[in-house]
Amino acid sequence: MVEQKATNITTHQGKVARHDRERLNGHRGFTLWFTGLSASGKSTLAVAVEEALYERGCRTFILDGDNVRGGLCRDLGFSPDDRVENIRRIGEIAKLFRESGIIILTAFISPYRSDRAIARDLSADGDFVEVFVDCPLEVCEQRDPKGLYQKARKGEIPNFTGIDAPYEPPGNPEIHLRTDQQTVEENVQSVLEYLETHHFISRL
Ligand code: ADX
Repeated sequence: MVEQKATNITTHQGKVARHDRERLNGHRGFTLWFTGLSASGKSTLAVAVEEALYERGCRTFILDGDNVRGGLCRDLGFSPDDRVENIRRIGEIAKLFRESGIIILTAFISPYRSDRAIARDLSADGDFVEVFVDCPLEVCEQRDPKGLYQKARKGEIPNFTGIDAPYEPPGNPEIHLRTDQQTVEENVQSVLEYLETHHFISRL
């Protein structure tokens, strides 16, 4: 847990509450937290689910590891401590998006169970949907769209998740997808089905 440095802080309440924004948006704000190995399909699925939600008139936003690491988290690498801080920041940002009534889709490896639990704990009950993007390491390594597994095997990328850095799979995710067995479309349907059944979005 990062210690708060600032003292003499007073928080302010606005006059427009979260439920006002949610009413305006026509749906709840919540997080779809995609977690899985590099090349498991997190970004692909986040993009496809976002498109489907957008077509239904939902307000959405994606936070993606590779993008965020070029800006907000450009000071962070891939050591265990840096990954913890990366996910802490994303958890806090996801909270802000929820408060704004938006559906926030996050696509980060987020390899540590305890960090995902911290991100979940920042949410009210039921606002956090963990999506395990499950794909065997061998398949991720075969896909290797960025050539990173090959580099990692040659020792050119230290601390690479799945090779010489750990990935702790979720024990009890709300949604468990297998990207080596189901198509993108089938997985998008599974996510939408879950969201409808649990009243995050209305049925068409
Ligand atoms: S996380 O572990 O802190 O959640 P994050 O999702 O932000 O990682 O970034 C992962 C992406 O960074 C990978 O998809 C890959 O493109 C790139 N990357 C570069 N170095 C590493 C590494 N050592 N381990 C994992 N991913 C890496």
